Amino acid sequence: MAESRRHATVIGWGTYAPEHVVTNADLAATLDTSDEWIRSRTGIERRHVAAGEATAAMAIEAARAALRVADADPYQIGLVLVATMTPDYPSPSTACLVQHALGAAHAGAVDLNAGCSGFCYALALANAAILSGEHDMVLVIGADTMSSIVDKEDRATAVLFGDGAGALLLGATNGPAGVLATWLGADGSGAEMLIVPAGGSALPASAETVARRQHYLTMDGNQVFRFAVRMLPRAVEQVLGRVNLPLSEVDWIIPHQANRRIIEAAAQKLEIPSERFYLNLQEYGNTSAASIPLAIGDAVADGSLLPGQHVVLVGFGAGLTWGAVLLRWGTGLGTGRTTAYRYLWRWLLYRWAAVQTLGRRLAARVRGWRLRRPRPDDPSGGGQRH
Ligand code: COA
Repeated sequence: MAESRRHATVIGWGTYAPEHVVTNADLAATLDTSDEWIRSRTGIERRHVAAGEATAAMAIEAARAALRVADADPYQIGLVLVATMTPDYPSPSTACLVQHALGAAHAGAVDLNAGCSGFCYALALANAAILSGEHDMVLVIGADTMSSIVDKEDRATAVLFGDGAGALLLGATNGPAGVLATWLGADGSGAEMLIVPAGGSALPASAETVARRQHYLTMDGNQVFRFAVRMLPRAVEQVLGRVNLPLSEVDWIIPHQANRRIIEAAAQKLEIPSERFYLNLQEYGNTSAASIPLAIGDAVADGSLLPGQHVVLVGFGAGLTWGAVLLRWGTGLGTGRTTAYRYLWRWLLYRWAAVQTLGRRLAARVRGWRLRRPRPDDPSGGGQRH
């Protein structure tokens, strides 16, 4: 592997989880389930659930933390990619809301939806954008508010999911590579295994779709389980095969955090101890596109993930989709110290973005009020004007 070519490397990371925690016991109080069932079948003990926060708000917190770690200037970001299946709105993209709140004035911004594989997809695309020379700095975020699409009355899904966000900031370097290889896959024949049936163009939201609870996520748990156990080991082997790195050289596999039993079955197939997989699903449940960056953040914080280590990130989910990214951790990380002027600059950009948003909202209200105001020359005495 030539080290002097242009590479993408991780220069910052950040996470965010809502404060509100829902334990298995909390769920058992309203659902026909138990702490014992959830723990033994999934490994999940609690999950963080958004209370009034939407996906962009969580993504912004994670992104700001990543910028802080990198001590980076938001003006340098060329592209903001947000992997999510629970955007704030069908349109505009959540990425645009994030781009504005960061003051990333020179960045393009776009969402992508690859279900729970979304973070691996976004990272692979960010890597390609940097290798092509198109961008020097790309912000990659995985963020999901799964509580907004999970049916709280459906015990088959309600116990599995949580909310959160995580971000990696990638920068171009000519030194040692951060991202060593990527591998993506999809099989749309499994589209209905994990699906939110209504709310899109196939079945627009209506009173009827809401009454039928079709705006909630439905899942064929057994089929998804089998798919995950089949594809997770294959994705790990494929990404390592791209650079002929043996599995024995990999320090950590950070998988999408769906179910402890999926990870144990995958470890068995790969013939490695399950301790080589980093798990934090007991704390967050399945946070979809956020689960891998949340696990990265925890692995760094608890001292598991160290500079120079090889780590495979591997995701699988709705679509069906799967993806893996091989990283060498820590090659692009700076001192971690924040320079005072950059801190102040970011603070100013964030405040200015908030003032602009407030200004636009106030202006829209005033325009609306002026349009609705009764006019002396209007025989109807006012009303809507077109
Ligand atoms: N609490 C108590 N019992 C439950 C339950 C819950 N929350 N959910 C299901 N059950 C019951 C079922 O009704 C069934 O009862 P029955 O035997 O009387 O019919 C029994 O538990 C076993 O159900 P089953 O679906 O076979 O359980 P499982 O061991 O396969 O575990 C999942 C279910 C959902 C945990 C598992 O299939 C899974 O993790 N699938 C993958 C899901 C996933 O990762 N999705 C996201 C991918 S990105």
